[in-house]
Amino acid sequence: MSKPSPSVHGGQVYAYARQSGLPEEEALTQVLDFSASINAVTPAIDWPSLLQTTQQRLAHYPDQQAVKLKQALAARFAIDTACIALTHGITAAIHDFFCSQRPACVVLLTPLYSEYAKAAQRFAGEVIELPLHHSNVNALLDHPALQNLPPNSWVILVNPSTPQGHFSRPQDWLPFLSHLKTQQAGLLVDEAFLPFIGFEAQYSFRPFLKDFNNLLILQSLTKYYACPGARLGAVFAPLQLLQTCFDSAWPVSVFDQQYLLQALADPTLDARTQDWLHSAKRELIDALHTLAVVEKIDPSHANYLLVRFNRPVAEIQATLLPQGMLIRDCQSFGLDACHARIAVKLPTENARLVDALRQLENLNAAE
Ligand SMILES: Cc1ncc(COP(=O)(O)O)c(C=O)c1O
Repeated sequence: MSKPSPSVHGGQVYAYARQSGLPEEEALTQVLDFSASINAVTPAIDWPSLLQTTQQRLAHYPDQQAVKLKQALAARFAIDTACIALTHGITAAIHDFFCSQRPACVVLLTPLYSEYAKAAQRFAGEVIELPLHHSNVNALLDHPALQNLPPNSWVILVNPSTPQGHFSRPQDWLPFLSHLKTQQAGLLVDEAFLPFIGFEAQYSFRPFLKDFNNLLILQSLTKYYACPGARLGAVFAPLQLLQTCFDSAWPVSVFDQQYLLQALADPTLDARTQDWLHSAKRELIDALHTLAVVEKIDPSHANYLLVRFNRPVAEIQATLLPQGMLIRDCQSFGLDACHARIAVKLPTENARLVDALRQLENLNAAE
């Protein structure tokens, strides 16, 4: 098998199947994918009914207004339906936004999801990268790069952050949002992993939408609702901003809509997710700390851990890959080759990863 290259995206299961010569079906069932941080707890889906409904509707275009889905999302995220646009996944939304907005300047608060830099370099007049130190959000207010921004500039914040999983309190950003508003600049907040922390209003920037027309929130739905194979996402913003940036006629398919409607209706998902995440994450952190290959684990509020190993991640991947385990290096986030982002999975799966890492250690000790 060829040596893994630094990954831009996690979740390369199909590439793994091709490289290892495994039939796709086998790879899909056998691979333990720690490289994509997807909810290990799946929503309750009535598959026969989902397939039947999809089959019935496939010969027609989807509901262009996606009324039922928007109503369900409005109830779940406590937001007006008029402030919701659906998109063909958040990765597509990032590019649609930059392409239609053509910002004069984009300030990327780093490290962050690499698609932002890609889209900004393609469509923005100027791109500035500023390392974000969560402990000191107010220091950003005085940063020289954030004074005198040209109108139609956008600052990009991912909260909780990737790959570290730090959470920054939205209230702390209010002076910053006002500061941007006076400069006719905007704040784009990516809350992809926020549902893993909770849906309560205090965690999100959503409540600020009523006072700030310079705020746009990207809400990935594929992580929490465990469906990256379906391409759907939601954007929350004032109506006018949505209309200028997200006006695809049918952004999500019939299948995507039906799946998400059922997932949103599962009353047990939140409790099951929190139960799993709290205990599985604690156990995984404790177990990783016992390994000599692990140098540091960042404190994380999310469903993944930023781990610094005592060697390049490529060396660790070379051992894990033949055992069907994928982990993700963090070079696309601008970190060095020894950092990996590891998804928290089910306890038995996490234990397999820890065992494999321990074997790697034993192997080295014997050499
Ligand atoms: C921070 C962040 N935002 C957005 C996305 C896009 O997710 P999707 O296109 O599945 O909605 C990702 C995917 O990894 C991500 O890490």
